[in-house]
Amino acid sequence: MTFQLLKTLHIVCVAGSYGLFFLRGVWSLTDSTIMLKRWVRIVPHVVDTLLLISAAGLAYMLGQYPFVDAWLTAKIIGLLLYIGLGFAALRKGLKNSTRLLAWLAAQATFAYIVLVAITRNPLPW
Ligand code: HEM
Repeated sequence: MTFQLLKTLHIVCVAGSYGLFFLRGVWSLTDSTIMLKRWVRIVPHVVDTLLLISAAGLAYMLGQYPFVDAWLTAKIIGLLLYIGLGFAALRKGLKNSTRLLAWLAAQATFAYIVLVAITRNPLPW
């Protein structure tokens, strides 16, 4: 597979992952029954798995790796933070105000990862 094709897949998954996380946050915080639908439980995991597989493929093809190249290290740390905040945002047991904050912080983290990707700089501002 060419680099450009894999990068396109990565970016499509980035958009899908964000869109689905945004919607799941809205649905979860408003107690929507859409959250119980089968596809809502499955599709985000498929998209996130493809996002990670394409990420690994891109890093390999570029010959740049996390913990070697700072911008990819920043992306991994950002990704872990995004996963943790996303987990908190969608967790029923927590207070709604905490979940809302986690949902917003997860989106800020996501924006940071995108900026790091575009600039290839861990300090993209
Ligand atoms: C939520 C997680 C992630 C988001 C939002 C994200 C976002 C992006 C975006 C928007 C691009 C395109 C940048 C451009 O147009 O130049 C990109 C490219 C790339 N990403 Fe990710 N990414 C994520 C996770 C990862 C991870 C975990 C890795 C590697 C370990 C990774 C490796 C790469 C590589 C190697 C490229 C190609 C960069 C280039 O061509 O200059 N990504 N990413």
